[in-house]
Order: sequence, then structure tokens, then C-alpha cells
Amino acid sequence: MIDQFAKDVDAGLSKAEKTLPSKYFYDEKGDALFVQIMKMPEYYLTRSEMEIFSDQTQALVESFQTDKDVYFELIELGPGDGTKTRKLLEVLSQEGYQYEYMPVDFSKNALDKLEQSLQKNLPQVSVKPKHGDYFDMLGSVKDSHHPKIVLFLGSNIGNMSDALAARFLYQLGANLSKDDKLLLGADLLKSADIVLPAYNDERGITRAFNLNLLQRINTELGGSFDLDGFEHAPEYHESDGIAKSYLMSNCEQLVEIKATGTSYHFGAGEKILTEISRKYNDDILNDILEETDFFITARFTDKANYFADYLLNRD
Ligand code: AVJ
Repeated sequence: MIDQFAKDVDAGLSKAEKTLPSKYFYDEKGDALFVQIMKMPEYYLTRSEMEIFSDQTQALVESFQTDKDVYFELIELGPGDGTKTRKLLEVLSQEGYQYEYMPVDFSKNALDKLEQSLQKNLPQVSVKPKHGDYFDMLGSVKDSHHPKIVLFLGSNIGNMSDALAARFLYQLGANLSKDDKLLLGADLLKSADIVLPAYNDERGITRAFNLNLLQRINTELGGSFDLDGFEHAPEYHESDGIAKSYLMSNCEQLVEIKATGTSYHFGAGEKILTEISRKYNDDILNDILEETDFFITARFTDKANYFADYLLNRD
């Protein structure tokens, strides 16, 4: 894992336009900062999706179109603290559905916490956590032949470019069977005055979240990043519909990383792209789905129309 981290960091910092993969945000500190982000007044995404899960739980469950006496697997990619899913689990269990809940997360820490809290609060739910990368786990999905409902919430898909999202959903579909379902959370296109503050909050929590990536490189890979030498610099242009988080070097500097055996040069004002957060509408999603086996069968939105959970059927 450390090895892969070093390789990915070296690859990203060696590009003409430097990048770092956003999946490395989530160490223990990053997980805790993301929990803070989800509670921020500016971060509407979690609240909007939570509203859908609270107000339309029954409709969501019905959209799965599963038989109460046919066992199915409920697989969640990147559950985080699982607050939204809990709503679903409560209703599924109350109504006597036969299923097992399988959260998949890249953060072992988040996964352990989730398992503990479910054991305590919803002991009737059978939980089988899987630790790993979403892409890596795709293959193991098809090892069982039970019907499957996959949850990919929180607009986590937005961290992927459209091309990567298409490839990912194609792969996911290839590992599922006809009539399996995917519930996909997608942040909707909206004006910059709402989107940008979600990635640039007043209290600087997102700033700390972004800079933690450099701290993590320092701690785990022997990096020499001076955290005061970089600014949190997010952007959102309505014309491209993608929020981008950057870390901008505020002076010319050289940073050494022991684990990669390399020093990296940063010019004053040079930026590292650390994350993209894509915003969607039906057309954008349908374009992504074009080459996949999924099609949209239902769409759930919050009252403000900020966020949508799409129910996709595997053809
Ligand atoms: C968890 C990927 C959905 O992109 O909105 C929040 C991560 N980054 N603030 C997002 C994030 C900065 C978040 N996702």
C-alpha cells in the first residue's frame, strides 16, 4: 500500500500539470476532517442527500423491486460513516427483507468505525465489510450469484472524470447480472455561488483537508513539504460544471520525498490538482451511461433540487 502511494505521488508530481490522487485524502485525520466537512453549513451535498433518504425511504426501497423472501446483497461503495444508509437499513429490516450489507471502503479506519456503530445500533443487520479500492473489488462482486443492489452515494463518482466514470460503471455492470440495481448519488449542476463555498468554507476545514494530503506525504513518505508554502485554491466554473481543488505553491521551492528518491520543483503560483468534483444533470449522466449496461429507471431529488439519487437498472 505504501509502495503504491509512493508510485502514485511520484507519477502525479512528475507531470507537466501536477496532480495528486484524491483517494489519499482519507487517512485517520482526513476521515475526521471529512466528517467535519459533511456538517458544515456550506457543504449542502450531505444534507440534500440525507433529506432524500429521510423523506423518501419507502419510495427508495420500493424502487429496488426486490422480493421480500429472496435474499440479496446490499453493497455500498465508500459508505463513510453510513448515516444515510442507516435509514435504508432500518426500513429494510423492519419490513423483513432478507439481505446482507457489504460496505466497501479504501479507509480501514472508516470501515471499522462503521461496523462497530452498526453492531451497536442495528444489531439485526448482518454486516460483511470489505477493505479495498473500488476498482479492485469489482471482480470479487461476481463471486456470488445472489441479486445485488449497489449503493454509490454522496456524489463520490464525481471524483472521477467522465471517461473514468464510464469505464468504472461499465466494469461494475460487467460484474453484475440482469436486473441488479445501482443507486447512484449525484450532485446536480448549479450556480457557482452555491457550489464554490462548499469547497471553500469560512472556517477553513476544507483547506485543512486539502493540506492534510501534503502532511500525509511528509509523514508516510518522508516528504519535506512546508505546509505554509501552499494555499488551498478551489475553483468552480459553471461552464465546465466541475469543482476543482488545487494546492498552490506560494513561492518557488524544491520538495524532496525520500520514498520516491526525487525532488520536485514548484514555481511560484504553480498548482497541484488534488481533486475534481463533477456536477451532473440527466444528459451528462446518460452520456456516461451510453457504453454501459445501465439505464436510469428512477430519480429522487431533494426539494431544492440540489442533489439526485438515480436508480439505475442493469440491462
Ligand atoms: C466525498 C468526493 C463527494 O467531492 O464533494 C468534500 C469530497 N472534497 N470537500 C466531494 C470533498 C472536498 C467529496 N466527495
